[in-house]
Amino acid sequence: MPEETLTITDNRTGKTYTVPLYKGTVRALELRHIKTDAEDFGLMTYDPAFLNTASCESSITFIDGDRGILEYRGYPIEDLAEHCTFLEVAYLIIHGELPTEEQYVEWKNGIGRHTLLHESTKKFMEGFRHDAHPMGMLVSTVAALSTVYPEAKEVHDPANRMRQMVRLIAKMPSLSAYSYRHAFGRYYVYPDNDLGYIENYMNMLWRRVEPKYVANPILARALDLLFTLHADHEQNCSTNVMRAVGSAMADPYLSVSAAASALSGPLHGGANQEVLEMLDLIGTKDNIPGYIQEVKEGRRKLMGFGHRVYKNYDPRARIVKRTAYEVFEVTGINPRLEIGMELERIALEDDYFVKRRLYPNVDFYSGIIFQAMGFRPDMFTVLFAIPRTVGWLAQWQEMLQDPEQKIARPRQIYTGSQRREVVARALRNSTPAVAMPSR
Ligand code: CMC
Repeated sequence: MPEETLTITDNRTGKTYTVPLYKGTVRALELRHIKTDAEDFGLMTYDPAFLNTASCESSITFIDGDRGILEYRGYPIEDLAEHCTFLEVAYLIIHGELPTEEQYVEWKNGIGRHTLLHESTKKFMEGFRHDAHPMGMLVSTVAALSTVYPEAKEVHDPANRMRQMVRLIAKMPSLSAYSYRHAFGRYYVYPDNDLGYIENYMNMLWRRVEPKYVANPILARALDLLFTLHADHEQNCSTNVMRAVGSAMADPYLSVSAAASALSGPLHGGANQEVLEMLDLIGTKDNIPGYIQEVKEGRRKLMGFGHRVYKNYDPRARIVKRTAYEVFEVTGINPRLEIGMELERIALEDDYFVKRRLYPNVDFYSGIIFQAMGFRPDMFTVLFAIPRTVGWLAQWQEMLQDPEQKIARPRQIYTGSQRREVVARALRNSTPAVAMPSR
């Protein structure tokens, strides 16, 4: 196939350039050849919030936002959700292929061997205030693991890297469960490796005095499926952070902590908690039109709606909605579902949302299920962080193995003062003051 090119005429100089295309993109560095004169730095692209910039090549996750398609390593999310466990999907995302029976057993046992936390980590977590947000505890404690495993900084050693990846996948549920129990002042439950990944997580969360925790299989399957849906989502905000921090060769614990910090934001993973708070605020179906009106006037956001990439129904939201009914068979219906569904119905018919192509995203229904299972809303984002750790790690490894990647370091358009001289303090004109906080 002949090389595909783009012809650009610079109207400032009248010069014409032939720019090669790379897999349907323009390599930004090609534009640097476009200069007004020899002194000129060359043309750059300006793309705040990366609306139209591919920052990497990736073979992990494919999204077609217009058609509502999500695939991990070529497998549709619907098939993975129906036929695979979360640990199989984690293997797929990390290794590129679904595991054989033998590989699965080895993977599962390997993860099982690393679920324990060092006692010093447990003590570290005990030091948080009684009302600490579990996401803050998770983010800080994952970073603290960097001090427990200092060898993790050898990020170019593939065997060492894999050991840390397995550790992280194994320890995130343990950290998460302890951050949850901390809020209730409950003792820390050690992992039980007779149990599967999800069942053990439920054991660490909810075991009281019974000698052996037995998870409800329907709830365990629902949690497993929700983990599969959240495992990766290509270059979302937290994954971009994982790659950026990792590109400076920070160790994986610190990089995951940074990615989890990004996830905690209400526009990202924190949205599931916000959805619940929104549904509580709305309270009854009668209040929905008033709320929608406030959204349209720009005074509020409809949390759990809209997505940078999906301009169609988020395929994950469809699966979550179906799963909700299976969970409610066990837990009884969460009355917020009715408000959520009515909100969705009205929003999907309303011109404001239709014109902007705003559809429910994965967070719209996941919180309703998590709450029915017994989680407090402040745990919802933690529940997102456990499976997303798999995606972060796979993307981090891919970044390290990509010979084209370097330290992430964007350019800027400088808009500040021209060069000037420092004036003695006594002679300076007063500038608009920034008020100091009174306390
Ligand atoms: N409610 C009301 N209006 C919205 C919403 C919303 N949830 N989302 C977008 N819009 C409007 C926005 O005001 C803008 O309108 P206009 O063109 O008149 O200025 C238009 O739709 C385009 O939105 P945008 O802000 O340019 O879109 P974005 O791609 O920058 O933002 C988003 C994507 C997910 C941050 C945004 O849709 C949002 O804030 N949604 C609510 C939070 C949420 O549910 N986040 C979870 C995302 S999915 C899971 C995850 O990533 O963790």
